Amino acid sequence: MPDGFAISEYPDVPAVIADLDALIAQPIRPLRREALNAYLEDHFEKRCQSSKAMTAEAAEYIPGGVQHNLAFNMPFPLVITRASGCHLTDLDGNEYLDFLQAGGPTVLGSNPPEVLEQVIELLRTCGPSTGLFHEYELKLARFIAEHMPAVPMFRMLGSGTEGCMAAIRVARLATGKKNVVKMGGAYHGWSDQLAYGLRIPGTRHHEAHGVPKFVFRHTQEFFPGDLDALERTLKLNRARGGTAAVLIEPVGPESGTRPLPRDFNAGVRELCDRYGALLIFDEVVTGFRLGLSGAQGYFDVQPDLTVFGKVVAGGYPSAGGLGGKREYMKYLAAGIEAGSKKALVGGTMAANPLSSAAGYFTLVEIERQHAAERAGAMGDRLVAGLRESIDRRELPFVAYNQGSIVHLQTVGTLHFSVDFNRIWEIPGKLKEIKARKTAMEEMGAAYMAEGVVTLAGSRLYTSAAHTEETIDQAVAALDRVFANIEGARR
Ligand SMILES: Cc1ncc(COP(=O)(O)O)c(C=O)c1O
Repeated sequence: MPDGFAISEYPDVPAVIADLDALIAQPIRPLRREALNAYLEDHFEKRCQSSKAMTAEAAEYIPGGVQHNLAFNMPFPLVITRASGCHLTDLDGNEYLDFLQAGGPTVLGSNPPEVLEQVIELLRTCGPSTGLFHEYELKLARFIAEHMPAVPMFRMLGSGTEGCMAAIRVARLATGKKNVVKMGGAYHGWSDQLAYGLRIPGTRHHEAHGVPKFVFRHTQEFFPGDLDALERTLKLNRARGGTAAVLIEPVGPESGTRPLPRDFNAGVRELCDRYGALLIFDEVVTGFRLGLSGAQGYFDVQPDLTVFGKVVAGGYPSAGGLGGKREYMKYLAAGIEAGSKKALVGGTMAANPLSSAAGYFTLVEIERQHAAERAGAMGDRLVAGLRESIDRRELPFVAYNQGSIVHLQTVGTLHFSVDFNRIWEIPGKLKEIKARKTAMEEMGAAYMAEGVVTLAGSRLYTSAAHTEETIDQAVAALDRVFANIEGARR
């Protein structure tokens, strides 16, 4: 099999958007209350007591009782003791099919033995960190350069958040311009300047509690997929400090929760060239999940800078970095190469031998196993099964995928948007969004009780460790949940 991409067929974007519009135009279709109560009682209360007790104690020491935003909290977090391939086991011995996949990094599945063996060998010889150079830093950067023509140079950092911060800093330094334009609804980490327009397009600083508003003086958002709106912003910016960069996730915000027309990225490239802004692709999720050349390879669009995270350390810690063209990456030179005009980045643990080796061997294995394509094929099978179930049960739910990134929208929470020119509508919309979020969490808890772990009850990552059999088991489990939706055809 030649090296290829996870996406076998690009989604029919107008059809998906029309279905999502129809979904949010309808009242919520929640789980029947007695079904929800049965899931909570029969699974969580009866079979997860050890998790309940441990996370209750953890709430004494850890805010919210868990350290991770993705940890499922409804009705309480579960404690995971084993993860292997596409299987998870909790503290009480319950088994689950894993479609969270750590939030995206594990294209090979959890804890692949080929990577584990190499990591153990490295730990024996050199330990996890030295603060000095290790050969795996070179091997990882060279591997990326060989597969991504727009990334001849790579600087490894500690997280995707750091990669995005570095990208903006470099873009401002390289262009001498001020403004950064992002797509509404997109998450680019939790740094001050990018805590803007999160999740729901148009919400501006709404979720940026603790960040002074002046921080957003040069951060702007545009509506996903709207090239005209982007161009209007770029035009206006010419008279107010110029645009340093347009920062986008090339599959659409929140891993494609609102998918983009296929030619959209090429359109953004053209606008960036016309207005002298750098194009930054946030490939934290898509980098190596869509294929070894990333979304930029799939869409055949070369960004100026690329942000990495997740897969770049193969599910191991310190997963992040920035790559790009030499003329821009020179601002990140470390050591004696550093010039006077340097973008300050760093990190005690950045590019440690452990993360570099884990990332390198993960990419080698992804290539050897054609893992991106295989994970994508599992995503296709999952969506086909879900659609069959949704249609059979006459539900308004929407399932679609971009390879191994599968979206299952039952309430369409993230499909809403707000418009500050119609400010009177906003409180009502935010109330509706909150109610839908609760319904989404209930769905996630029900999926979990049926043995399927998802991301926030609305996204499922497949991996090369999933098989046709496990996909079919998951479809059957989710179908049992769908049977319990109010008004579903039995
Ligand atoms: C598209 C995207 N960018 C950036 C980030 C932030 O990466 P990290 O969690 O490594 O800081 C994430 C994390 O989920 C992401 O999905």
